[in-house]
Amino acid sequence: MNTVDRIKEMLETLKIFSETSNGVTRLPFTKEAELAVSYLKQKMEEAGLEVFVDASGAVHGIRRGISPRKIIIGSHYDSVKNGGAYDGIAGVVCAIEIARILKYETLFYTLEIIGFNDEEGVRFGTGFFSSKAFLGEWDIEKLKSQYDDKNISIYDAMKNWGLVPEQLINIVWQISKIRCFMEIHVEQGPVLEKEGVDLGIVNGIVGMRRYSIKIFGRADHAGTTPMNMRRDAMVAAAKVIEHIEMAAQKYLGSVATVGSCIVSPDTVNTVPERVEFSLDIRSINDDDLYAMEQDILIYLECVAQERNLTYEIQTKLEVEPAQMDKRLRAYLRDSILRLGYSSVSLNSGAGHDALPISRKVPTAMLFVPSKNGRIHCPEEYSKPENLAKAVQVVINTLKKINNEEDINNELS
Ligand code: GLV
Ligand code: MN
Ligand code: MN
Repeated sequence: MNTVDRIKEMLETLKIFSETSNGVTRLPFTKEAELAVSYLKQKMEEAGLEVFVDASGAVHGIRRGISPRKIIIGSHYDSVKNGGAYDGIAGVVCAIEIARILKYETLFYTLEIIGFNDEEGVRFGTGFFSSKAFLGEWDIEKLKSQYDDKNISIYDAMKNWGLVPEQLINIVWQISKIRCFMEIHVEQGPVLEKEGVDLGIVNGIVGMRRYSIKIFGRADHAGTTPMNMRRDAMVAAAKVIEHIEMAAQKYLGSVATVGSCIVSPDTVNTVPERVEFSLDIRSINDDDLYAMEQDILIYLECVAQERNLTYEIQTKLEVEPAQMDKRLRAYLRDSILRLGYSSVSLNSGAGHDALPISRKVPTAMLFVPSKNGRIHCPEEYSKPENLAKAVQVVINTLKKINNEEDINNELS
C-alpha cells in the first residue's frame, strides 16, 4: 500500500466512528470519540510510536530523537454535528503517515504526533480544549461552569469518560522543550481549488470570540396580552441577531454568526420568556474584533433597556488573531517548490489548534484544497493525492529543521 491508499483507508475507517449516519458526528468524551482514539492509538503503534492518551483526551505518539526537544505535528479528531470525514482528522491521519514514513530514520528532534480533543467546541460552546490544556488555560472552576445541552459540565463529561480533570495541570507544555508545531488541515474554503493549486501556506489565523447570550423577558398569554404590554425575549433576540449581521458587515473581513438558539418555553401560544443563543465573532484584525464586540454589546444593552428585559453573557472563548512563523513558512514554501508542487499563501478564517499554540510556540499550517469549498457538512472532501503531497512537504520541512540544528551545532 502507498501513502495515498493508507490515507484513504484510515479516513474511511475513522468516518465510521460517528453518532450519525448523515455525516460525521464525533463529539468529545463520547463512545465515538473513544473508538476513534483506540483506532488512532493502534495506527500510531504501527508507525513505531510510543503511545498514550493524556488527561485532556488527546492521543499522543512519540518517536525519540537525539534531542528531547520536540517537533509536534497534529490536528483534532473531534467533529461538528453532521460534519464531514476530513475536518481535523485528515491532519491527524497525515501526521501518522509522516511518522510511519520516518519510522527507521534517525531524527535529531523528538517527533510527537497529537490527535487533539475538542477543537471544535461544539458540545460545550467553547473550543481548543486540548491545546488550551497544553497552554495551562483551564482550571477546575472553568471546567465546572461550562455545560452541554444536557446540562453536563466539561468536568463531569471528563470524569464519565474515565479522565481525571485535576490531572490537566500535569500536561502543561514546557515551552522551551518544543522547537515548533505544524498542522496539516483541509482548507475549508474555495480559494485553493479556484486557484488550481496543490496546497496553501497559512499566513495568519483569525482571532475568535464566542459567547452564550441569554435574554430574559416574561411568559404571557399569546392571545390576551396586548402588544404594548409584552416583554418578549424572542423579539429582542431577533433584533439583536439582525444587528449582529450588520455589525460584522461594517468591518471588512470580519464575520459574526449566531448558530444556535434555544427558546423557552417554546410554545405556540406563550410569549417567549427566555432566549439563549450563541455568538461567534472572528476577524484577522484584533481592533476590529474588539470594535465589533462593543458594537453588539451596546446594542444588546439598548434593546434590553427599551423593552424592560434583562440579559446575561457568558464568554466561552477568546483568542487573538495570530501570524504563523515566518521561517517555517519559508521552509514550507521551499519544500513545495523543490517537490514541484504549486501553492498560494492565504489567511485562515477558521479556527485551528495552531491558533492558540502559535502565541507560545513557532507554528506553521499547511492547507489542502477542499472540494467546492464545502466543510462542516457531509459533502466535505479533499483528494487523498493532495493530502499525500502535504505529507511529503512536511517530511521535507522536518528534514530542513533537523539539518538547521546540525548547522547551528557546527557553527557553535
Ligand atoms: C472550527 O472549525 C472553527 O473554525 O469553528
Ligand atoms: Mn471545524
Ligand atoms: Mn478543523
